[in-house]
Amino acid sequence: MREQLEQIKNNALAALEASDTPAALEEIRVKLLGKKGELTAVLKQMGRLSPEERPAMGQLANNVRAEIEAKLEQRKAAIHASVLEAKLAAEAIDVTIPGEAIPVGHQHPMNQVLQQIKDLFVGLGYQVVDGPEVELADYNFTRLNIEEGHPSRDRSDTFYFTDDDSVLLRTQTSPMQIRFMETHKPPFCMLAPGRVFRKDEADATHSPMFHQIEGLVVDEHITMGDLKGALTTVMRNIYGEDSVMRFRPHHFPFTEPSCEMDMQCHKCHGTGEIDGQVCSTCHGEGWIELLGAGMVHPKVLENCGIDPEKYSGFAFGMGLERMAMGRMKINDLRLIFDNDVRFLNQF
Ligand code: PHE
Repeated sequence: MREQLEQIKNNALAALEASDTPAALEEIRVKLLGKKGELTAVLKQMGRLSPEERPAMGQLANNVRAEIEAKLEQRKAAIHASVLEAKLAAEAIDVTIPGEAIPVGHQHPMNQVLQQIKDLFVGLGYQVVDGPEVELADYNFTRLNIEEGHPSRDRSDTFYFTDDDSVLLRTQTSPMQIRFMETHKPPFCMLAPGRVFRKDEADATHSPMFHQIEGLVVDEHITMGDLKGALTTVMRNIYGEDSVMRFRPHHFPFTEPSCEMDMQCHKCHGTGEIDGQVCSTCHGEGWIELLGAGMVHPKVLENCGIDPEKYSGFAFGMGLERMAMGRMKINDLRLIFDNDVRFLNQF
């Protein structure tokens, strides 16, 4: 019996050592220690031993059982640890690997220029305001001293909503002059950027929707010198201190005198041609029109309840797309509205 027990122990320890899964361990446990197990079978034979032999054999059997159980626990723990280790190795995360960069967009080139222009005028003390795109003809034309029958009122130029031509999509931001003067007393400096609409076929320099930035300054003793000073300061800031500007006489019904401000073409530098070809940016003009401006017409001041004997002012309106095209050397207006990322990513 002693040999039998030794045999069982040695076989068990070797088998346990060799097994490497929880299932294999369990199989061995049942085979040895289970109700019908080998060790159990040996223990059942104890009754046949003499009373002298029994305690020593019982002791030995218990030791064998204890050793097997201890080994079983030890292997269980070892297998559990190695399974865990393998799992951890397989699922390991290297926190030092750089993450995947998320692409971050940026402002549209036109908004970049708008922001720059707003910042410059705010720095000069201007207040930025917003107004309706659906406008009354009264504000868009009549109170701006644009008489009935003026070509800009034509149905072929303007989008009207009503048969009596009283409601329209504003063709300019100038109605904001009227809206602002109705609700504010001079002195003031205001800037009103926004969308405007005209029945224009889209080409490299035209779009039925574009953006203007209106400016209006009213106070006592405002002169053409103030107009030139403010606009020159801003334009030099945008296009560079060495950019060449000129003021050219013009006509607008709501300003008197009126002018247009031009900048020398950045493509052909005023010559109007590149390599013997007509410059496509300024169409051979050598100059690019930046904006219309002038001294607020006394009738317009009067229309808004401001005494033209006491107050004077200047106003200007610039095309934002045109500014962006000049600033960023873009030669086709349609690129600004296409929103092709291959184009936008360049700015
Ligand atoms: N509203 C004019 C235009 O659209 C521009 C302008 C604004 C001219 C203010 C003078 C004063 O052409």
